[in-house]
Amino acid sequence: MDAGPIEDFPCGAVHMVREGRHEIGVVRGANGEIYAIANRCPHRGGAICKGALGGTLMPSEPGELVFGMAGEVLRCPWHGYEFSLRTGKCLFTGLALRLRTYRVEVRDGRVHIDMKERGDRS
Ligand code: FES
Repeated sequence: MDAGPIEDFPCGAVHMVREGRHEIGVVRGANGEIYAIANRCPHRGGAICKGALGGTLMPSEPGELVFGMAGEVLRCPWHGYEFSLRTGKCLFTGLALRLRTYRVEVRDGRVHIDMKERGDRS
């Protein structure tokens, strides 16, 4: 689907687009990458795209707090589970929950979302 011109997707926010009955959140990262995810949390079905976009605390040495993944983490507004926009995976260890992601590319200055291809990146 053609989601619109790249200028419609400034960094730092989740922008909603719709394709039929599908609600898709589009995020343009500070690194220039664009992510597209289904607006449904894999935990209990919450509207994940209404959650906070930010980073998270990374694994670190005892007594240290290391913040990372700035702008690449979406926190569900229902129960606070955090997900990587890059991989779709839940950041809580031991949980196999995963966001539905879509492949995105920019062609001729417009954002195109492939509704059939997963957009997970390693
Ligand atoms: S519905 Fe998203 S964390 Fe529970």
